[in-house]
Amino acid sequence: MRNKTSIQGSWASRWIFILAATGSAVGLGNIWKFPYITGENGGGAFVLVYLACILLVGIPIMMAEVFIGRRARKNPINALSDVAEESGGSRKWGLIGVMGMLSGVLIFSFYSVVGGWVLHYIKAMLMGDLAGTTSDQAGAAFGALLGDPATLLIWHTIFSIMTIAVVAAGINKGIETATRIMMPILFVLLIILLGYAMSTGGFAEGWNFMFQFDFSKLTWNAALIALGHSFFTLSLGMGTIMAYGSYMTKSASIGKTVLTIGALDTLVALVAGLAIFPIIFSNGMDPAAGPGLMFISLPVAFGQMPFGQLFGTMFFVLIGVAAWTSAISLLEPTVAFLVERFRMKRISASIALGVVVWGLGIACLGSFNFMSDFTLFGKNTFDFLDYITANIMLPLGGILIALFAGWVVKDKFAQDELKLPEGIYKLWNISMKFTAPIAVAVVLYFLINPMQ
Ligand code: TRP
Repeated sequence: MRNKTSIQGSWASRWIFILAATGSAVGLGNIWKFPYITGENGGGAFVLVYLACILLVGIPIMMAEVFIGRRARKNPINALSDVAEESGGSRKWGLIGVMGMLSGVLIFSFYSVVGGWVLHYIKAMLMGDLAGTTSDQAGAAFGALLGDPATLLIWHTIFSIMTIAVVAAGINKGIETATRIMMPILFVLLIILLGYAMSTGGFAEGWNFMFQFDFSKLTWNAALIALGHSFFTLSLGMGTIMAYGSYMTKSASIGKTVLTIGALDTLVALVAGLAIFPIIFSNGMDPAAGPGLMFISLPVAFGQMPFGQLFGTMFFVLIGVAAWTSAISLLEPTVAFLVERFRMKRISASIALGVVVWGLGIACLGSFNFMSDFTLFGKNTFDFLDYITANIMLPLGGILIALFAGWVVKDKFAQDELKLPEGIYKLWNISMKFTAPIAVAVVLYFLINPMQ
């Protein structure tokens, strides 16, 4: 139990942990998914529920994941088992980690397809294919991409290989370097895009759309999506943060670290929304356009602004990097498990897992073309996997982690890691025992039994 470090290595400092975890958290979830689900769910009230979920459910659960990982210094399955045993609980708690790994694999399969779209747009921007595009043309270009499985397959394959290569290289060399250089640049470019959005005529409308809370538009389904997204965007509920926590130095404060990560992630999502919606409104586009929202709005904006080709290329490169550092973290827990449990070489484990997720990804990219008739519960494969992972598996993983941290782990062990002031610890403990599990359970319950 008292391992000083993980056999996988450890982060060079607290800041590297913050960077790596932020690299995991900030990704397509913030820049692609958050704006489009906000658009589909009517804006303001949805954003407010999302913010509440981050603060009341996401942040406390993230603290639990970090401390469980750091205490055991092992992959999520073994970490949960060891920490349970130390407090006299059953090693079966490790099963949460099994569901988590499955979630990671399923998320990766559609995530890398969208990562592939981003790579395609980097090329299109660089070549000037989208120069001066109108909103109709941008919509048609996106539709043409989805209808072309061969192109989708090439980009999905490249994105998968890029991700597997970094995971195979290990946490220090691979993940740290990618994050340290790219995260700050992403942020600067997002601010430039925000500046442009403020100069368009649609800024006030975009702002109001996001921050005017009209609760009549809020449904239980929208609340579920907001809750599920708070897990998705913070990389919670599947062991990513637990695995990253297992590489964290013992001296760093978990509370402060987690708050920093949560704040950065939320900031990026809000800025992305504030950059995208004004572009949508000033060009008369539909905020509820769905998954294509970012891919049809940004080319129009870059097509109009000075140096648009340059900024556009850079912007898609950075989204690609954000997606990449997140995709890496989807595979890391499972690779750590394969290495620790079966003594596999890191490189073999990464390749074996890579082949599986790449294959599943093909079913996702086929959802838009050759497999569009194939549905599960009325959804195509892509939407189905997105729905069950973000809205069911991650929240369920989250509830179980919260219940575990609140009821099974002894206070003295939790506090040995968290070292919170007494009052704050009480609040956190109440959140683990009651608030977070009840909030998730209520939303899941009403989803299954709608009130109307
Ligand atoms: N948080 C990432 C994003 O917003 C996606 C992600 C990475 C993730 N690792 C995860 C989501 C683990 C859920 C669980 O793009």
